[in-house]
Amino acid sequence: MSASKKRVIRYDDKIKYLPCDQLYNLFKLAGWTEGSETDEMLKNFNVPFINSTLVVSAWDNERLVGVVRVLSDKVIRSVIYDLVVDPEYQGQGIGKELVKRCIRHYPYTEWLVQTTENIAGYYEKMGFKRYKDVVLSIPSKWQ
Ligand SMILES: CC(C)(COP(=O)(O)OP(=O)(O)OC[C@H]1O[C@@H](n2cnc3c(N)ncnc32)[C@H](O)[C@@H]1OP(=O)(O)O)[C@@H](O)C(=O)NCCC(=O)NCCS
Repeated sequence: MSASKKRVIRYDDKIKYLPCDQLYNLFKLAGWTEGSETDEMLKNFNVPFINSTLVVSAWDNERLVGVVRVLSDKVIRSVIYDLVVDPEYQGQGIGKELVKRCIRHYPYTEWLVQTTENIAGYYEKMGFKRYKDVVLSIPSKWQ
């Protein structure tokens, strides 16, 4: 895209009540939904965001083009979840800006993210180091 056509992206770190339809669409574009959600699940799609400590979203006018959420105790540890940027808007620094804004909120905490091997390099570029400790889990009943 030429510089003259570059869209102005507005970032918001206050709104947690993101529109469920736009949020669901972003997840669909990222391949994170199977399209088998019930009406009840669609209606509550933004609940994990509402219940998070911090949500940062990126907007092109009224269009939600990127999002990330954080669970944090605000002192010791913060965990990043659901970083996603609309493919049409990727490669413009939006993902990096979303993460930078999160870290700025709680700059003294440890930052963790669970991701896949092909995205690990993305976080390493931003200063994240691979975690050596063992991570154990009981899966969510929604996964
Ligand atoms: C990962 C994702 C959020 C990146 O968003 P983005 O806005 O396109 O990323 P940015 O434009 O901020 O990229 C910043 C830098 O990371 C680089 N980068 C992007 N994807 C990368 C990858 N998979 N591995 C390594 N580097 C990567 C870019 O080239 C850019 O480098 P530069 O600063 O040297 O130019 C986006 O590709 C996405 O939504 N993917 C699908 C969902 C997903 O996998 N999210 C991560 C879940 S933990």
